[in-house]
Amino acid sequence: TLGTAQALAQQAFPSRYITMIVPFAPGGPTDIVGRIVAEHMSRTLGQQVVIENVAGVAGTIGAGRVAKAAPDGHTILVGPMSTMSFSPALYPKLAFNPLSDFEPIGIAASAPIMLVTNNAIPATKLSEFADHVKANAGALTNGNAGVGSTSHLACLLLNNRVGVSVTLVPYRGTGPALQDVVSGQVGYLCDQVTSLMSQVQAKTVKPLAVLAPTRSPVLPDVPTASEAGMSGIDMVVWNALFAPKGTPPEVIEKLNSALIKAITDPASRERFLQLGAEPPPDTQRSPQALREIHAADVAKWGEVIRSANVSVE
Ligand code: MLT
Repeated sequence: TLGTAQALAQQAFPSRYITMIVPFAPGGPTDIVGRIVAEHMSRTLGQQVVIENVAGVAGTIGAGRVAKAAPDGHTILVGPMSTMSFSPALYPKLAFNPLSDFEPIGIAASAPIMLVTNNAIPATKLSEFADHVKANAGALTNGNAGVGSTSHLACLLLNNRVGVSVTLVPYRGTGPALQDVVSGQVGYLCDQVTSLMSQVQAKTVKPLAVLAPTRSPVLPDVPTASEAGMSGIDMVVWNALFAPKGTPPEVIEKLNSALIKAITDPASRERFLQLGAEPPPDTQRSPQALREIHAADVAKWGEVIRSANVSVE
């Protein structure tokens, strides 16, 4: 019967390699987190988990691709909080519903947003940065990973707070945006610390503030925005795994336990922590925990986006 065939198919999962779609360019936080868990999950599942970067429109192209893939666990998404929670408020014609078109698998890691500038900007503190941006708004550019990415919204909240409007430069991910901050072509970027650490350590960019409630353990000298006098612009970003709606519960269960093995493995856990990203605590590792956190973030950030009057230009 069909029931038996389905049961066999589920037992056999994964029967071939798994495509893990990263909806942003290589070198950004979603890509970095995806690659760390994919490598470990391949070992647990006994099949390669292959990363495919499908970038464009702040992750919505890649997420849309997964929403429409066969619900058999062989195509999954690394969904950042931005694509999965900001997009409904920004894109009225979004081709998928982030809440109802996916089965949550689990959170891989979360990281705070950090403001970095190129080395030519004469500021070592957030207040100096604000003065500099106000005085040079016409000449400065602010890079991001597209309208509706975390780097876009985080820096927009900062720019609104400072009271400036500068030219926003969209990229296919913060990986390439960061390269242009390093080269000096772009003035500043608000990104998850995960992808910034190597450049910060190499002193090719300057970290000015953590746009999150607490300092990052990997950069304890960098103050939070609130400590520097700007509260209310905090953002901590999760990256999580999702499968297409209708993926069998047994398959989700296998993927979730492989993910938990990956994030609790001492070596990958250490890699995350060194990058300033944190795997979720015990209570936040289940598909159900992700479902609840995701729903809360769609509501919370939808409200922020509507009240900040953000629009797709
Ligand atoms: C985002 O949250 O917007 C993404 O992490 C950006 C990226 O990975 O490039």
